[in-house]
Amino acid sequence: MLTLFSFVITTIVVVTKVESLDNGLALTPPMGWMTWQRFRCITDCEQYPLECISEKLIKTMAKRMVVDGYLKAGYEYIIVDDCWMSNKRDSENRLQPDPIRFPSGIKSLANYVQSLGLKFGIYEDSGYKTCAGYPGIYGHLEIDAQTFADWEVDYIKLDGCYNDPETLVDGYIRFGELLNQTGRPIVYSCSWPAYEEPLGIKSNYSLLTEKCNLWRNWDDIEDSWYNVTNILDWFSENQDRIAKYSGPGHWNDPDMLLVGNFALSEDQSKAQMAIWSIMAAPLLMSVDLRTIKPEFRQILLNPDAIAINQDKLGIMGKLVYTALKRIDVWAKPIMPIVNGEFSLAIGFISNRIDGYPRIASVPMKTLGLNNPKGYHITNIFDPEYVDVISGGNIVVRVKPSGTVFLKLIPKD
Ligand SMILES: *[C@@H]1O[C@H](CO)[C@@H](O)[C@H](O)[C@H]1NC(C)=O
Ligand SMILES: *[C@@H]1O[C@H](CO)[C@@H](O)[C@H](O)[C@H]1NC(C)=O
Ligand SMILES: *[C@@H]1O[C@H](CO)[C@@H](O)[C@H](O)[C@H]1NC(C)=O
Repeated sequence: MLTLFSFVITTIVVVTKVESLDNGLALTPPMGWMTWQRFRCITDCEQYPLECISEKLIKTMAKRMVVDGYLKAGYEYIIVDDCWMSNKRDSENRLQPDPIRFPSGIKSLANYVQSLGLKFGIYEDSGYKTCAGYPGIYGHLEIDAQTFADWEVDYIKLDGCYNDPETLVDGYIRFGELLNQTGRPIVYSCSWPAYEEPLGIKSNYSLLTEKCNLWRNWDDIEDSWYNVTNILDWFSENQDRIAKYSGPGHWNDPDMLLVGNFALSEDQSKAQMAIWSIMAAPLLMSVDLRTIKPEFRQILLNPDAIAINQDKLGIMGKLVYTALKRIDVWAKPIMPIVNGEFSLAIGFISNRIDGYPRIASVPMKTLGLNNPKGYHITNIFDPEYVDVISGGNIVVRVKPSGTVFLKLIPKD
């Protein structure tokens, strides 16, 4: 078990040494909405007019993001994932969208989204095909970088299917340079670790921070609590290797939020929101904003959770203690710093299934909490229940596959 003290110091020392991609973007974890988890590769607009990947869907979601308060809360990017393209490049070898689903073209769609105050993101793949089989950028890097800049794209997620492992990383680096040369600031989301780490290859995170604004570390999320806990297992097992590379301009990405979809309960959704905030993960919703239930919308819009995620120090929190078998305690140092002491976000995450809220406790000194004047405490999802300090411990009750998510600010 490591103490938070050493955790904070090493994090900060390393972060200041990291040389990072200098495009001035993603100084806090990107927030937005992405098509993939909810809408996947639905392309049949006759059968599924409300769900197919199309300019209509994007415009509708963009409007919802503004009208329902997501943009105001910080969700800024709207990102079209795979399956937007035509199967063929045009006569000049440029990428083109599917003409039936995107009749106005991508530039027009980007400009519409931008006129609402949002930013526009799009998907491509560094290999010769996208994961769903559409044209990849391999062999066309120059023209594709220029096309995205011409379309006034603000964010690119570059996937890694159909790649030659020998040139995987070089291709990502080269495309990043070409994006830079277009002169348009574009958030660059890389996926090469997700194509190395599962094979047992340890990615070069120092290189990632120099070349990318964020990167998918691991396997794709799917709509289940099992997937959330699997991702947490990987991130905690690898935290000492990867957490130090998280910071303003460069982020580890555990993949999209599932909140509001079919599988997660309300408590599981709070747990995902808590832990994604603690990990300084990009907050990319992927849910039908037309039909999301209000309790899930409230979770996505929770201002304290978002503020912790967007904390400007950009420290990636870690698993620091196991309170009870299968109840883990994660912590993230945040602003404000009071008399030299960081404030702290603490997330108890239960992966228990034994049916009732279990008492879990962590010694405050284990978390580096020793301010004699005490702490201002916010219980983020349960504001009534803030009396959590007892005998030098933080003691809470955590529901099965749920969370207790706290913020502690040292009293002055
Ligand atoms: C391109 O890279 C240079 C050097 O890192 C940086 O100063 C500049 O802001 C970048 N431009 C864009 C558009 O990303
Ligand atoms: C990782 O990339 C950096 C450049 O950022 C390089 O200096 C270093 O040698 C690379 N490490 C390995 C193990 O290849
Ligand atoms: C998510 O679950 C599916 C189905 O069990 C699995 O194939 C996939 O690898 C899982 N991904 C993660 C990140 O756990």
